[in-house]
Parts: sequence; structure tokens; C-alpha cells
Amino acid sequence: MTYFDHNATTPTDDRVLEAMLPFLKSFYANPSSLYRHGRIARSAVDAAREQIAALVDAQASQVIFTSGGTESNNLALATLPSQGRLAISAIEHPSVTEPALRLERLGARLNIINVDANGLITQDAIDKIIKEKPELVSIILANNETGVIQNLAPYAGKLRANGIRVHTDAVQALGKIPVSFNQLGVHLMSLSSHKIYGPKGCGALVFEKGVEIKPFLLGGGQEQELRAGTENVAAIVGFGKAAELAKAGLAEYSAKLLALRELLEEGLTTIPGLTIFARQANRLPNTVQFGIPEIDGEMLLMKLDQKGIAVSSGSACASGGSIPSPVLIAMGVEAGFAKSAIRISLGLANTPAEILEFIDLLKALVCQA
Ligand SMILES: Cc1ncc(COP(=O)(O)O)c(C=O)c1O
Repeated sequence: MTYFDHNATTPTDDRVLEAMLPFLKSFYANPSSLYRHGRIARSAVDAAREQIAALVDAQASQVIFTSGGTESNNLALATLPSQGRLAISAIEHPSVTEPALRLERLGARLNIINVDANGLITQDAIDKIIKEKPELVSIILANNETGVIQNLAPYAGKLRANGIRVHTDAVQALGKIPVSFNQLGVHLMSLSSHKIYGPKGCGALVFEKGVEIKPFLLGGGQEQELRAGTENVAAIVGFGKAAELAKAGLAEYSAKLLALRELLEEGLTTIPGLTIFARQANRLPNTVQFGIPEIDGEMLLMKLDQKGIAVSSGSACASGGSIPSPVLIAMGVEAGFAKSAIRISLGLANTPAEILEFIDLLKALVCQA
């Protein structure tokens, strides 16, 4: 299979798996246990916390482990005071939009921050939202579909100066571009392991000291009493290793991915009518989302699957058909055209040969259609 869907998930790096195995086979003790093997498991969790903190330029004590990006986003949004006002961007992942909508049903007020045609939040949109006086604002750092990277630091600075708490979903940015919790100036940041060649079901919430987190899970007092439950030690160790590898390889990885993306875009632009969404914006080095008039994205996905190529379409399945991507709709893309969207998200094992083959195949499929 040619795997072009790394924003959905990544393969687990062999070095990550190797780091995890001892904690499944030998050092399986509970990190809360006081005897030696328990202390070994505890040290491994602490070391992983340091590795993740180092990748995002934060203190280890600011990192709590969760079950993934979804839980981290849910926890971050739950810091909203009851009946408070929340603002989220129009291009958030469902793990932000769904809890936001639930908070609204429970009495919170919800504002949406619009984006321009390139998927970017503007200074005007930030100024407008400040006037609404929200307690919490959530802005995705890099979008999972288009790859668009927000110019977050100055916006976070302004929001903070107005007494507004800022959360960012940095799940897709992590490991692809430099992510500094301190430089971004946010209060809360969500991370996920399986997007950076770590195991699934593990993530972290990074938080500024003083922000009151309301735990969902109460019990044994783990994770500073903010997230109870016996730690998933092997997965946490794997996440830590993946973070260490991402930090060491970041410059090399992003240069490699960008070169592949440029080759892909060069080929894509030879297809008549093809549009690369948000092409003018600063995007993740591995992500390209495009549409081709009169071509259904899901049909194309299936045809590519038959040829052994895994990509993602921009639409979500719904009873009675597919619904176009809310991200593209927010960017002003016409609904019919949004349904043609295909996302390619490249990874470290992809090669130029795979990209050239893909372009040839795509041209042939588009001609047949
Ligand atoms: C931007 C973004 N946020 C959050 C998530 C959820 O992360 P997880 O799969 O670890 O729950 C994803 C996963 O697709 C994502 O792309």
C-alpha cells in the first residue's frame, strides 16, 4: 500500500516500539507501586513527560497525559466557567466543535471566529471576538485538512492581554513544525502521540500553572489529580520516544516532507481545473488538499484504494450521502466543489517515486471520469 494519510495516523516508529516493549513485558508494574519495578515504571513516565515538555518548550510539570488529542481538547474546553462565553474558530477539529456545542446546549454562549479564503484567521476577526468578551478562545494551530498554520502567537498575546484564556489544538502541528508553548503564549495546548509516529490512545494536555483544570476522571489521584487512572506506561514511554525523535529530526523531516510536497504540487497543477486549497497560505510541509471540478472526492478515494493508494477525502459520511468539509465551507468553497476534496498527507517513508506514480494514476483516473 502507498500510504498518503499521515494526518489520520502514522505508523509506529520501530525505535518507539522498541522503547515500549520492556514496559509491556518486564516492567509492567503499576507506577504507583512503591517497590522497585513500580519505581522503574514511574521513572519511565517521568522521563517521557520530560521528553514531551522538551519538544514543546514547556516544563514537565505542565504536561498531563491523556488518552489522546480528543480528551485533551475536551478537557481544555471544560475549563470554561459555567454559563461562560466561548469562542472557537470555524475550522476546528470535531473534538473541539462537539464539546463546544455541548457547552452551548448547557447554557454557555458560543461565538465562531471566521477565516478568510485561505483558511486564515485575520486580525480583524480577533479584534471582533475580543469585543464579545469570551472567557476562553480555542484556535487550531495547524488544520488537519488543509494544513494551514495560523499566525497564533500575536493573536494569543492580544487575547491574553485582554484577560482571555487561549487554548490551541497543536495535534497536527506537532512534529511537523516547531511548536513552543512559551512562544505561542497560550494557556492550554493539546497534543497526540499517534500523529508523530507514536502509539494510539495517548496524548497530553500542556497547561499554564494557575489554569484551573476540571478533571473528568476522579480516582487514584494520578497526573496531579487532574486525570485519574493507572497510567498507560508503555504508550506514554512510546509517546516520549516519538517526541524525542521528532525534536532531534524536526529540521530534516520538514525539509524532506516539503520537497515531496513540492513535487506533488508540481504534478497536481498539470491536471486541468485542479485547485490546491489554501495554496497561498503557510501550510504544514506534509499536507495538500485539492479539488477537481466534476469529480466526487469519495469516488476518487475508492478508485485510488483499488489501486492500493490510501488518501482521505474532505467530506464526512452522513446518512443519505456525504456532507462537504466544514473547513472548506468556512473558507468560502462552494459546497459541490468541496465534495471533490482529496487530502494527501505525506510521511517520512514516502518517496518521490510514489508521488510520480500517484500523479500518473490520478491523471488516468480523471481522464476516465
Ligand atoms: C487537529 C486534530 N485534533 C485532534 C485530533 C484527535 O486526536 P486523537 O486521535 O489523539 O484523539 C485529531 C485527530 O485526527 C486532529 O487531527
